[in-house]
Amino acid sequence: MAGIKGNDKWRLGFHLMPPAGWLNDPNGLCQFKGVYHVFFQYAPDDPNGGMKYWGHYTSPDLLNWKYEGIALSPEEDFESNGVYSGSALIADGKMNLYYTGNVKLKGDYNYITDGRQGNTVLVSSEDGITFGRKECLMTNADYPSGLTCHIRDPKVVTGKSIGKDDENYYMFLGARTQSDVGEVLVYKSSGLRDWELVNILKSKDPFGYMWECPDAFTAGGRKFLSVSPQGVEQSGVDYQNLYQSGYYELTGEFDQSYELKNFREWDRGFDFYAPQTFLDESGRRILIGWVGMPDEPLQSNPTVEWGWQNALTVPREILEKDRRLLQYPVKELERLRQEERILDMSESSEEMETYDIEVTVLSKDITITISDAIDLTYSSQTGQFGISFRQDKNLGYGRGGRAVNIKECRNIRVLVDTSCIEIYLNKGEEVFTTRFYPEGGRSCFSLSEGKAEIKYWKMEKMAVAEM
Ligand code: FRU
Repeated sequence: MAGIKGNDKWRLGFHLMPPAGWLNDPNGLCQFKGVYHVFFQYAPDDPNGGMKYWGHYTSPDLLNWKYEGIALSPEEDFESNGVYSGSALIADGKMNLYYTGNVKLKGDYNYITDGRQGNTVLVSSEDGITFGRKECLMTNADYPSGLTCHIRDPKVVTGKSIGKDDENYYMFLGARTQSDVGEVLVYKSSGLRDWELVNILKSKDPFGYMWECPDAFTAGGRKFLSVSPQGVEQSGVDYQNLYQSGYYELTGEFDQSYELKNFREWDRGFDFYAPQTFLDESGRRILIGWVGMPDEPLQSNPTVEWGWQNALTVPREILEKDRRLLQYPVKELERLRQEERILDMSESSEEMETYDIEVTVLSKDITITISDAIDLTYSSQTGQFGISFRQDKNLGYGRGGRAVNIKECRNIRVLVDTSCIEIYLNKGEEVFTTRFYPEGGRSCFSLSEGKAEIKYWKMEKMAVAEM
């Protein structure tokens, strides 16, 4: 494993990150026998990425974490170039992990039909820590014709969780067609091993060339399909990152006739991709995303010099309102708050490493400024909320501005964690997640325009036990 170097002030206080090395997608999210499990795409030896394993954290309460080491390593022929993304299905009293066994072949790895295999693999566990024999359930020869070799990231769910009144399981697989259109394959099974293709989900007009990391669920009685599309062009303030992630409302049925409506981005910040959701044992739907972005210039994350790169978002509870999804930090995080303070509108807060701000907006326009370097602004004239980095301060390492159109800005919650900011507008109608790199991992904030009631709390750091 690559080591963490020196006294790194950008290590995070209440976000999960790699012990050392590189992290990408959250995988296998679940609660099993009372314990929360967060697996993640992990290249332990190099902060710039490399061969993919599954790293593993567990927690009884989403606050106290234990690093359990590497859960899955590439050791079989059907996964010789990486244990890629996947999900957990709790069934038959076991934790069943489905993932993509990635194999590079001679030929064009990045394109059409010959350069790679995306095998669908199952491995189960009785205790959530040790895993049995891996079984390759499907290879590229089993997938429908007309696709490229880009097929991956199985999300397996119960029928009940997607609005079916049956005892079947459903698998969603991301795919790229030979005419460069992203879509999702839907399989069904009455058990864990034999899968039958029952549908292919696509948007009315093509939307990107590949849909990675699909997810499917109901919320508020409506059905939703989440995907991470590659190859979508920027349009105004929308789709400004290299790759996107968002969700459609699905009307009809996942396994029959359907329509995908109103793609909405999950998060408007610079650093967010490949989210996954799960239902916990109390029935909450919780989302965790990757705080990072594939293939962006590496110098935009200066933690590479310290031996690590990327993180996961805090767990966010998902609720449906008016046919769209709200995301809000799970309640548990409030237990990290120290005493409540009120910010005098004319002052700046002290410098802090980890803090949580709740702003009730009392004017039409507002700007909150972090360390005289990052402005969070709502303008009633443009009808936009935006985050912008002042370039002379360079806390964003190349990041500029991002915005969203929103009718009004009633409240703003900001989680600041040494080098990561998550911003929730109007209780989670819109979210922005972004890295920033203040000196010493400390920042302060002030109200630079408008009127507001501002409460804030210094946050304790989460406990993360090493192996
Ligand atoms: C998304 C992704 C997945 C793949 C994994 C590999 O970021 O490209 O499609 O399974 O990362 O690490």
